[in-house]
Amino acid sequence: MENVEKVKNLIDLRIKAKLGGGEKRIASQHAKGKYTAHERIHLLLDDGSFEELDMFVTHRSTNFGIDKEKYLGDGVVTGHGTIDGRIVFVYAQDFTVFGGSLSETMALKICKVMDMAMKMGAPVIGINDSGGARIQEGVNSLAGYAEIFERNILASGVIPQISAIFGPCAGGAVYSPALTDFIIMTEKNSYMFVTGPKVVKSVTGEDISTEDLGGAAVHASKSGVAHFKAVDEEEGILLIRKLLSYLPQNNLEDAPLLSCNDPVDRLEDSLNAIVPDNPNLPYDVKDVIHAIVDHDEFFEVHRHYARNIVVGFARFNGASTGIIANQPNFLAGVLDVDASKKAARFVRFCDAFNIPILTLVDVPGFLPGSGQEYAGIITNGAKLMYAYGEATVPKVTVTLRKSYGGAHDVMSSKQLRGDFNYAWPTAEIAVMGAAGAIEVLEGKNIAAIAEQTEKAKYIAEKTDEYKEKFANPYQAAAFGYIDDVIEPRNTRFRVIRAFQALQSKKVVNPLKKHDNIPL
Ligand code: HXC
Repeated sequence: MENVEKVKNLIDLRIKAKLGGGEKRIASQHAKGKYTAHERIHLLLDDGSFEELDMFVTHRSTNFGIDKEKYLGDGVVTGHGTIDGRIVFVYAQDFTVFGGSLSETMALKICKVMDMAMKMGAPVIGINDSGGARIQEGVNSLAGYAEIFERNILASGVIPQISAIFGPCAGGAVYSPALTDFIIMTEKNSYMFVTGPKVVKSVTGEDISTEDLGGAAVHASKSGVAHFKAVDEEEGILLIRKLLSYLPQNNLEDAPLLSCNDPVDRLEDSLNAIVPDNPNLPYDVKDVIHAIVDHDEFFEVHRHYARNIVVGFARFNGASTGIIANQPNFLAGVLDVDASKKAARFVRFCDAFNIPILTLVDVPGFLPGSGQEYAGIITNGAKLMYAYGEATVPKVTVTLRKSYGGAHDVMSSKQLRGDFNYAWPTAEIAVMGAAGAIEVLEGKNIAAIAEQTEKAKYIAEKTDEYKEKFANPYQAAAFGYIDDVIEPRNTRFRVIRAFQALQSKKVVNPLKKHDNIPL
């Protein structure tokens, strides 16, 4: 072959590789409303930044005559590029090649970019769209999965790992996304389950659709497996880009600091009146968050799951910050199993990646009852306590209203190494609410009063006495558990000043092989 022909041959091969399983299968992918692997990567990365690797890799199997069917790239597109100018490593499974199923060589390709991402200290993004283990490759496929899982585990807490589920993701294949930091699913075409509806039917007799078993709605709201539910792939990809803007490249760096023209001393008058006089009335803690963060921008994580606690990213004076806030608007902001798990995972992510934490507290306590006890509220509540207690990033806490009992201790209290703990004058920091306390302390005395008006008067008096003494922030402030009681409208300024003072914070936990968080 002449040299000119060699070059032409290369160009032809590259064109062929881009076509994956061929035009017919690409058309079928499009007909389902799905993009191809190459299209997804180009949507995700900065224009023209993608450098593809391993496009000439083909599988090595000979089982079931599969050696007669080979496609360049073998079912996954891998490489690197940039997002907002910062390098990321990517892989996107190509459903047009054997349904994106995982072969030995496909696993090697994925592992190669994961290893490079670790070496370079850059995030890795995986786009999943696969029929699972390539059946013809048997145990080689299972071994390939395990190679990926091990890398997910070792990369955890070192580089951000993000998984998009833009097609099927079933069987053991779900465990790679599950080991990563964030999962994004789309409303259509995206599903995750350990066993599909047919197996479910044959094993348990349950009749259930793919959507109801493992669709985005289920995983974003019921199981909490998915952190984000996007309308379509375009929105999913925008979410990934936005999410990365709040994150550092790796655990040794800080998140990007943006310039900010939202005044740091902006007063937000509405906050002085946001807490209702009646302690039983709710308000939306997201209104507080939006009012104090830069430019009203809050990037919520796990929006549909455990809505009694709100978590997400925002910026203060341009610096990325993780926010955890009890939500009085949903189940009165109580801490239950799901809320504890959701917040604990978020706190640990922020701590692993040097993102300071702001906690907004309005919590009536842990949710009582056999349902929660049987579901392990003890172990799960302990996860959140553990996460806060071990976190060494700057931690600022503002108590807006209720902060009762064990939940008070959990929510980034001073004794769990909260750095600056502020309270609004509306805060009530106590062992429990007034009604419960009076019942315990005065139950016998109340029962002894026969006359109803007298009884009501006595209860009201004792309740007022309790509120006067405990339902305020000043007792906690008198002991130094609260560093200052602040005017609500000035919260943005005080929070920014606190984080500025904490910029040089250095705390190191005792050396250990690893911790033993109550899983
Ligand atoms: C080899 C596969 C494949 C697989 C799909 N294909 N899955 N090839 N191994 N696992 C091929 C099909 O033969 C077909 O080839 C093409 O991909 C598209 O598949 P279709 O069935 O036509 O597509 P669709 O109707 O959209 O259905 C998609 C699907 C279905 C739901 C994913 O293909 C399916 O159920 N596949 C099997 C899923 C499965 O049981 N996988 C193993 C799970 S166990 P042609 O040539 O016609 O285009 C597992 C263990 C992992 O994954 C353990 C890790 C620890």
